[in-house]
Amino acid sequence: MSRRLVNPSRRLADAGSIPFVASIQSKSRNSPVLSIGLVVVGAILLIGYCYSNSGNSSDIKDVSKLEGGGSCTAEVLQALPLLKKAYGDSMHKVLHVGPESCSVVSSLYQEEDTEAWGIEPYELDDVSSKCKSLVRKGIVRVADLKFPLPYRAKSFSLVIVSDALDYLSPRYLNRTVPELVRVSADGVVIFAGYPGQQRARGGEVAKFGRPAKLRSSSWWIRFFVQTSLEENETAGKKFEQASTKKGYKPGCQVFHLKSYA
Ligand SMILES: *[C@@H]1O[C@H](CO)[C@@H](O)[C@H](O)[C@H]1NC(C)=O
Ligand SMILES: *[C@@H]1O[C@H](CO)[C@@H](O)[C@H](O)[C@H]1NC(C)=O
Repeated sequence: MSRRLVNPSRRLADAGSIPFVASIQSKSRNSPVLSIGLVVVGAILLIGYCYSNSGNSSDIKDVSKLEGGGSCTAEVLQALPLLKKAYGDSMHKVLHVGPESCSVVSSLYQEEDTEAWGIEPYELDDVSSKCKSLVRKGIVRVADLKFPLPYRAKSFSLVIVSDALDYLSPRYLNRTVPELVRVSADGVVIFAGYPGQQRARGGEVAKFGRPAKLRSSSWWIRFFVQTSLEENETAGKKFEQASTKKGYKPGCQVFHLKSYA
């Protein structure tokens, strides 16, 4: 992972404003009329630039609003403070994998000392400019989970996956879940639907290629054993304790896996 991606807004400011000011200065010697014109245009552009910048934080909040209803990604957003309790410092570099990843990444960005990346396993359904800009900067990627992830081992402290695994057959799950574990250093948190849970989205099959297969917790636990993945009981307990304390009952199954030693 490269740190270049971390503060894209600073990069944008460097690229945008400085050459612009320089170009005003270099031209202003030639013609006073032209230079006044340029200064006026420049002022308008700079004001516009400042406005669009100061709008950033409210944009992020808008993105966080999901249509909700049956989505485990919405559940992740609610559970972030509890995950913070369970994982503490291990939340400093997070990869979220799942539909509507832009919303989770934007939320994490609001936390202090937290870097976040996202993978959208299907197409991008969030067409907001904020989301498009996260994609342009390479912070959120669209990537098919059936292939190896484009990251080195232990690239992230924590990997959080929501909804995405419900659409994979066991043949792919066998490869994908170990891949998620491979790129994590302090654990993987899986948010999966409960069997019988209603999914709010229409057009699910068209988008994901198959309907969600919502598996029972005993199915998942057997799967973890078969694929030699270990649950992290410490993290699970801490998460449960924090949930109880806050009176929060997850609408999705939550599993905590250990990273490879
Ligand atoms: C997944 O892997 C496990 C353990 O390696 C194996 O027992 C199981 O048959 C595999 N399932 C599929 C569908 O490939
Ligand atoms: C288990 O979770 C805790 C956080 O509660 C974390 O600090 C620890 O590294 C995890 N263990 C493994 C082996 O992933």
